[in-house]
Amino acid sequence: MACGTSWHAALIGKHLIESFCRIPVEVEYASEFRYRDPVIDSNDVVIAISQSGETADTLAAVELAKSRGAFIYGICNAIGSSIPRATHTGSYIHVGPEIGVASTKAFTGQVTVLTMLALTLAKEKKTMDEGQYLAIVKELGHIPDKMKEVLKLNDRIAELSKIFTYAHNFIYLGRGYSYPVALEGALKLKEISYIHAEGYPAAEMKHGPIALIEKGTTVIGTITDPALVDKSVSNLKEVITRGAKVLVVTNRDVRASDIDTLIRVPETHPLLAPAVSILPYQLLSYYIAKQNGLDVDKPRNLAKSVTVE
Ligand code: AGP
Repeated sequence: MACGTSWHAALIGKHLIESFCRIPVEVEYASEFRYRDPVIDSNDVVIAISQSGETADTLAAVELAKSRGAFIYGICNAIGSSIPRATHTGSYIHVGPEIGVASTKAFTGQVTVLTMLALTLAKEKKTMDEGQYLAIVKELGHIPDKMKEVLKLNDRIAELSKIFTYAHNFIYLGRGYSYPVALEGALKLKEISYIHAEGYPAAEMKHGPIALIEKGTTVIGTITDPALVDKSVSNLKEVITRGAKVLVVTNRDVRASDIDTLIRVPETHPLLAPAVSILPYQLLSYYIAKQNGLDVDKPRNLAKSVTVE
């Protein structure tokens, strides 16, 4: 359980743990969990994720789960903060102090630690064969270089941001583990640029949100799962035919002539892709906010640690 960006990392953690370890995982907003009567007991493990380690809702949810007998594992960044002290055990993500209100390196650090946790559990539970385990561990070691490759796109994304400076609405779409990336991309944009943005699972569009699409609506799609390339492209075609301007971040050979902008990121193991595919969105939000003369480190109405309800 978690809030905000940490909650998005938790959604990716669910994919990782379920896929690598075959353990069912529920992802909870801490603020919701703490005010209902959750079915939780000493057979449950709660993973509480928080950059600051001081988020009031997450801390209260930890206390509630603990009082019901659950075992609590914390994934935090701020050393010695309240949540790590309230948990039974855990891991620090060790990304260093995060100054800007918008969580960036904390997100990639959380996803990385969740990957390591899922791999360790899978090894213990023998739900993954040795070869597969070693291949993913090795690929995890390549992720920093792949992230550096994406950072080389900095100037291109800065240039691209100029097109979007006056946009009013963004829809971020993704399927599978690209869905949390869509949510996080949208949160980054609204948080620091004050532009309305929403993330949706791409196939949900036809159940309502597609009504929002009109000529010029900006839709951002993330496509990194080989099993979902065709499905995702067909979801994007549905918005393209209704006039959307589409930007796609992908590590696959996505062929759709009507996509306005394609940002190619390095290929990796599908479940490791979010740490790479989120970076263009962090940069895009940063540059759109800067173009609009906004303070990217201290956006209005927000605090770095939400220590009140
Ligand atoms: C992220 O950019 C936000 N500032 C916010 O959603 C944040 O992730 C949330 O408040 C949770 O904070 P925490 O990770 O410190 O618990």
